[in-house]
This record gives sequence, C-alpha cells and structure tokens, in this order.
Amino acid sequence: MSGTLPLVGAPADRVDGRRKVTGTAPYAAEYPLAGLVYAVMITATVGKGRLTSIDVRDARRVPGLLAIMTHENAPRMDTKAAPEHTSQELVLLQDDIVRYDRQPVGVAIADTFEHAVDAAGRVIVHYAAEQPAIAFARGERYVPSAIFGEPPALRNGNPDAAIAAAAVRIDNVYTTPVYHHNPMEPHATTAVWNSDGSLTVYDATQGVDTDARTYAHHFGIPVDQVHVIAKFIGGGFGCKGTTWSHAVLCAMAAKFVGRPVKLVLARPQMFSSVGFRPQTHQRLALGAGLDGRLRGQIHAATTQTSTFAEFIEPSALISQVLYPPADFAISHELVRLNTATPTFMRAPGESTGSFALESAMDELAVALAMDPVELRLRNDVTTDAHGLPFSSRSLRACLTQAADRFDWKRRTPQPRSMRAGDQLVGLGMAAATYPAHRSAASALVRVAADGSVTVQSAGVDLGTGAYTAFSQVAAELLGVPLANVRMELGDNTYPTAPVAGGSQLTASVGSAIKLAVLDARAKLLALDDGRGESYAAILTRHGLANVEGRGDAKPGNETKTYAMHAFGAHFVELHVDESLGTIHLQRIVSAFASGRILNAKTATSQYYGGITFGIGMALLEQTHFDARTARIMNANLSEYLVPTNADVPPIEVIIVPEEDTIVNEIGVKGIGEIGIVGVAAAIANAVYHATGKRIRDLPITPEKLLTVA
Ligand code: MOS
Repeated sequence: MSGTLPLVGAPADRVDGRRKVTGTAPYAAEYPLAGLVYAVMITATVGKGRLTSIDVRDARRVPGLLAIMTHENAPRMDTKAAPEHTSQELVLLQDDIVRYDRQPVGVAIADTFEHAVDAAGRVIVHYAAEQPAIAFARGERYVPSAIFGEPPALRNGNPDAAIAAAAVRIDNVYTTPVYHHNPMEPHATTAVWNSDGSLTVYDATQGVDTDARTYAHHFGIPVDQVHVIAKFIGGGFGCKGTTWSHAVLCAMAAKFVGRPVKLVLARPQMFSSVGFRPQTHQRLALGAGLDGRLRGQIHAATTQTSTFAEFIEPSALISQVLYPPADFAISHELVRLNTATPTFMRAPGESTGSFALESAMDELAVALAMDPVELRLRNDVTTDAHGLPFSSRSLRACLTQAADRFDWKRRTPQPRSMRAGDQLVGLGMAAATYPAHRSAASALVRVAADGSVTVQSAGVDLGTGAYTAFSQVAAELLGVPLANVRMELGDNTYPTAPVAGGSQLTASVGSAIKLAVLDARAKLLALDDGRGESYAAILTRHGLANVEGRGDAKPGNETKTYAMHAFGAHFVELHVDESLGTIHLQRIVSAFASGRILNAKTATSQYYGGITFGIGMALLEQTHFDARTARIMNANLSEYLVPTNADVPPIEVIIVPEEDTIVNEIGVKGIGEIGIVGVAAAIANAVYHATGKRIRDLPITPEKLLTVA
C-alpha cells in the first residue's frame, strides 16, 4: 500500500480519452430526452434603449412553433442574484429595457431546431435606441467597495514620494481590450421539469452546485429540488463559471411549454450575455535605485462593468505578489458601460495586470541598462504586500531554469541588434504568478469487494483532465491500479464541490479525495488481521460489499498567515517583418512551479493551453464595438481571431518540482490559469527588443507596429 503521492505524477493518458474521441462523452446538448423541444434566443440589435414593439405575427406562421416568450408574456421572475451566488444579475424578459447588444429579448420554442431558428428570425423587434457609453471617457466612474470581499485598494508608505525620489522612474499607461471566451462547446442547457415539481438541468457549467443554487433562487424552489448534471463540458475559461440569462430562460421555457427544452447558443451569441474579459486601463509607475531595487510602485487599474451589475477585473492584485516594495499602492476603479456584464476569463486580473507590470519591468530594465532577468532576481521578495510570508515561492528557479533552457545569454540587449536575414529578431521574457486558491469540498470513496473503487464529487471536469488526475490521487493513495478507479464528477447529488474556476478544483476536490481515501483506509485497516490481504479479500472475508470513506476538506488558518501562489517565467523568441508589421513567433520556453503536479501530461497540456491563450491575447484577439450603437462588430470566429496551429510556435514547458506542505492536503497549487499570465508581456518585450517599438496597447497588430514611432 502506498501512502504518499509522487511530486510529479505519472503522465497517465486521460481516463475519459476514448469517450471523448469516439463522441460518446455526453455534453449538455446531447441528452435525447423524450418529448424534447428546442428554444432559440432572440437577441437585441442595439446596445442601449427600449423595446417599442415586438411583432410576432409572421413568426407565428412557422409550423411546429410552440411559443414565443417576450417581456410581454414571460412569467414574472426575480432577476437579482442572491448574495451568496456566483451568478450575476440576469436579464430574464422582465421589462422593455435594452441594456446591451445581443441581450435576450425573446425566446422561440418549437418542435425542431430549424423551426425555432426560423421563428426567432421572423420576430420583428422595434427599438427606441439611445446613445450608448462604450468608451471609458463616457461612462459613470466609481470606486467599488470591495473586490471579492477584499478592499479594492492597498497603500503602504508613500509610493509617490518614493518614486519621485528614485534614481530611475517609469510611469506609463497600458491598455487591454475586451476579449471574449470562445470555448469549443458553446453554452448549452437542456432543462426538464419533473412531475414532482423538481427541475433537472443538463448544463454546460463549471460548477453544478452554484448552478443549482442559481436555478433554485430564480424559480423560488428549494435547492434539493434542482438536479444539475455536467458530466463533460467542452471548455469554459470562466464564462461557464456563472449561470447566465440563457440558462434560466431555457428552464423558464421548459416550464412555459411543459416540455423538456434544449437551448444552445449560436457562436455569435457567445458574444452576448455570457460575459467577457473587460477592457483595462492601467497606470504602472515604478521607481528604482541604480542597483535595480524597486523603491516605490503604483498600480492603478480602471476596468469596465455593466450598467446593471458589477464585475471587477482585479488587474492590480498581481503587483502585491511579484515584487512589492515597502512604498507601494494598488487601486481599482470601475466604469459603467453599455455592455453585458464582464466576468472571469482565464487568470482574471493576472492576465491583464501582468501585461502592465511585466511590460513596465522591461521598460525599467531598459532604463537601467540591466538585464531584465537580473532585474527580477534583484527584486525577489520573501513577503507579499500584506507582509505575509510565501508558503513557497519558486520564482527564482523558474526564471533561471527557463533562461538556461532558452539560452537567454545569447541575447544582445540593444533593440534591433539581432537579425535573421531580413527579419528583426526579438527575445523577451516575463514572470508569472497566480494565486493558489481552494474552497471547501467533499468526496466519497467506495472500495468494493470486487476490487473496484468508486470516487464521487460534484466537481466539474472543464476538459482539463480532472477525471484523470483525481483517479490518480485515489489510485496512488489506495495502492490500486488506475484502471480500478471509477471517478464520478459533475452531479450536484454527489458530495459538494466548488466551481471549477480560479484554478482551485484540483486543490479543493483532490484534498477531499485524499481525506476520503484515508477514511476508507482506516476502516479497512480496522478489518485487517495483518495477513497482508487485498482490500477485496478483507471485505469478502467480512462479508461486506464495500466500505465507504468520506472526506471534507476546507481551507484553514493558513489563508490568513501565508501568501500562497504559483510562479512561472516565459521566454519568447520572435521574428518581425518590419515592412509588413507581422510577427512570427519562433519559440517559447516557460517554467512553472505550481506545487505538486498530479499528472505531468495533462498539466503540461494546461500550460500549453494557457500560453496559447496568451498568444491570442497578445497578437490576435480583440472584440470591436461600434461606438454609435454598442453593437459588437466581430461576433464570429472569422473576425474575432484566435491562434491557429500556424500561429503557435514550439512551446517547451519546464515543470519545476516544488513541495508545499502548507497550501493544502495534497500540496497542489493549480495550473489552469498561470500559463496565460505574463505571455502578452513577454511577447511585447520581445517585440520591443526586435524593433525598438514599445506597444502598450494590446493586441499588437501589424498596423500598430507600422505606425508607432
Ligand atoms: Mo477561471 S477564469 O476562474 O474559470
């Protein structure tokens, strides 16, 4: 019997791999329920105004039409999110106000998908459109009262004076645009009201428990009357971390027509009511001595929210972690714009904040004529801006190991000094960090007399490999083959789990599984007589079908006494064709220290995915709004550009082994988000090195390279 987990777990193949590639893994839109009918959302075509009339006469002629719900006939509902929910205030056909482009204004329900699409397209909506606020200069500006329960600002000492007195100063504004999540699987919901009044929902959600609570809240029913199932989802990146309007509208439609209803968002509707990463405007001011040591730092972020709900992109928090000097300040400010409500998107805060901080550090290195790796090493810290010691911090190892593998020392620091034929060569780097979150979670482990092990938790596998990693935890700790473990996830009737977001699922549920295994093992040991029998033999001898272990894990006092974060570093080589303004990535080497790694293969895939997401953020992705109407102009994947194979260079990931006994029971820090953090800055820094042009406004498109002096 093995009692511990290896620091880096075996690169086991995905236990759900065969089901995924054979199309037998069921997604939310793939439950062929008897009597199922189809709902299609009708969405607004202006970003601000009122509905003056909705003409459904032509739509009613479509055969198979069951109903068209609009604000004129929809059941009355509470649109407010309950305080403990992760959902936002929703738009549920309760009034005639248009709050954002592509807001749901109706739902067509028909016997077939085609009939529902046809009917939705025939609904004629008239608006009294108003001038929207889509730019920061035009929206209502305010300081939020808190970020996720924490103060939105921190001020230590006198950073203004410290920066003013410093030998070298950097003070610039960095901006990032709106980005939309585009998981392969669009949002989808299949809802059925059962004869006992309970609701069953097959949902594309990152969290079945929070999802169930949201339905219970809006429909005014007890949460035990809501059964949410999310066995497989095709990515989420944060947009499926929250239950949005369309999902509740699907359940509303099912009630309205008395049939099971399926509602799937079309790709353009993925730019509607399901969140996005808000645009940011960040002032980053640094003052340093000639030795490179930071004397003062200010990181002030302005981000956007909607007119009817609040989401804060916590861009400045990363400055509290990487190199905070004694004289230090961060702050966050919001502007209300006529858009849907933004939300969590891969490394919310750190993705955008790292672009500002790690670009500014590069600018400081240039001003000091100091190597940017050396500058970061000199500013390594032992406590965060709150004075908390790190539970573990391997930034130094990440920087040096990735620099070595990349062969950073061949870089000549002068911009425009390296060439390959007619291409300018740029080498750039940046550091990364992401918090090691966890939340309370539970798990059940059942060891059966036939030798099988069943593990249950409500947690959702986003597509990250959670089924596999959790199976490995149970198999390792029980000392049984991986194939003996049956991992069951994604059902709110299983022991509770938090949303698979904030890179917290593995730490949260993995810890619960460990405790559940220890509980089951203790029960088995009590039955053992020391003959060295297998679990199956022990259970058979006692005439037992199985034993069950239960694990309830939750964060403890360590969250108040330690700063707990994963760290990383990226090194990028790229070529720039100066006559065209095009950038060709050549190579990325990244090192990460994220505590214990449960599966080297799926973990590396997460890092690849995060880095690839960072390439999109740096060079390609951007949502464009028409300032006159607030209409999104590129709500499709032909004009909203994401990296394709040809855009992604060879990526080499170094896993820096790290043992952290404080962070949680299994020592994992989370890997889903840190991969994107710092990538945009590393690319921007490489572009500067290649060209001498400092682009502080993402994405770095050819026209910017051609026009910036
Ligand atoms: Mo992640 S953006 O917290 O799902």
